[in-house]
Amino acid sequence: MTETTATILVADDDRTIRRNLVRFLQAEGYHPLEAVDGEEALASIHAHSPDAVLLDLKMPGRDGLEVLAQLGPALADLPVIVVTAFGGSAPAIEAMRRGAYDYLTKPFDLDEVLLTLKRALRQRAMSFEIKSLRDQAGGGPIEPVETVPELIGRSASMREVFKAIGLASATDATVLIVGESGTGKELAAAALHRHSDRSAGPFIRVNCGALPEGLIESELFGHERGAFTGADRQRPGRFERAAGGTIFLDEVGELPLSAQAKILRVLQQKEFERVGGTETLRADARVISATHRDLPREVAAGRFREDLYYRLNVARIVIPPLRDRPEDIPDLAEDILRRVERRYGWGQLSISPEALAVIRDRPWPGNVRQLENTLASAAIAARGRAILPEHLDAETGPGPDPSIPTEGDPSESLPLRALLAEVERKAIRRALLACDGNRTQTAERLGISRRQLFDKIREYDLSP
Ligand SMILES: Nc1ncnc2c1ncn2[C@@H]1O[C@H](COP(=O)(O)OP(=O)(O)O)[C@@H](O)[C@H]1O
Ligand SMILES: [Mg+2]
Repeated sequence: MTETTATILVADDDRTIRRNLVRFLQAEGYHPLEAVDGEEALASIHAHSPDAVLLDLKMPGRDGLEVLAQLGPALADLPVIVVTAFGGSAPAIEAMRRGAYDYLTKPFDLDEVLLTLKRALRQRAMSFEIKSLRDQAGGGPIEPVETVPELIGRSASMREVFKAIGLASATDATVLIVGESGTGKELAAAALHRHSDRSAGPFIRVNCGALPEGLIESELFGHERGAFTGADRQRPGRFERAAGGTIFLDEVGELPLSAQAKILRVLQQKEFERVGGTETLRADARVISATHRDLPREVAAGRFREDLYYRLNVARIVIPPLRDRPEDIPDLAEDILRRVERRYGWGQLSISPEALAVIRDRPWPGNVRQLENTLASAAIAARGRAILPEHLDAETGPGPDPSIPTEGDPSESLPLRALLAEVERKAIRRALLACDGNRTQTAERLGISRRQLFDKIREYDLSP
């Protein structure tokens, strides 16, 4: 199937619109089919297996939404572009929720129809191609197992990192991991712990940049009951909880000097006391620290204690920035897509060779974390189908950030939320434009209150 001979079903009860679309599609080299209502649309889909569908929402009998509901999982392989007269964002949102590929509002622009259609067909072809390659390779779908995240990398510099982790894991030495933000320092620390003799013990992370200065001491060393107002019971600190395992001092360069002195003491004497306590406890935690800062420079500037720097920097692992190892990008992208699939419950996400070439050439100042965010947004923009270059910078609104583990609220991990937000944002932006920014009119047009509109404008950062 090539793009230009694709069969497109046009389902619309309005004869004029249907005819116009059919003539237009013919002129563009497609093979159009027609249906006058939902019933006929479903019959035609079953009989002719079209490559894409342009579906009107308001039709007599079975309407567009019912057609979408009937198609259900089949929509994964059949892009349905919903065409609706503008009547608020609700039908568009509902259509997207039911698995439509995209939606256009009437009166529509034929160029927009063509663009959307072409994109849908290209993605569909790409998904099929990749699926068949995978089947040939005998790989099949990736099993949804929650594996411990592994460090990916085949570049010479990452192989050096793996070696350094392996060497350090055979010892109990204090290790400093350095590298730009998002290069994988935390992942490296976790790998080091997992491969060490302490792997059966806890891995306790302390984000030194996020601890309020007044709480650092009690967080690290714990406190006794009554040590300060609010200390209504005894609480062990992180060093105590990490006993038998590893304590990871992340972003150690952010520690204020007062806290640096306290950490130095634990490292030197291997003992500490809880705040307000007299009992001396033995520190039995292996210390790994990490920073994106140039610590020698911080030392020279008087912001970091030199003696602490030497204590932390017994063994050193340097993680190179992603731009210096572009050969790692394809494997990383593959790994990231598998994780996005699991998180969003999608099957078989793929990336086109063109999109892969684009991401290989980018400088990635935010390193792997930025690559992850970009690919997750792109996957949402691509609706879980093949990622093309134009999806890489797509605006997807406030989607879930894949670098943030979703604990608490389970709805955070649904693709739906991100999709709905995207649709809603688009609808509101369009309405605002159509009403020249007049909010009363926009609210009326969208069928929501002014108050709701204001909230949404703030939520999506849409104010002019
Ligand atoms: N080599 C790698 N292989 C797979 N994922 C990686 C790799 N490096 C980083 N990541 C991912 O990138 C994100 C940032 O990594 P992280 O360890 O938090 O970076 P840092 O601590 O250096 O800022 C994490 O989601 C991590 O899983
Ligand atoms: Mg980090």
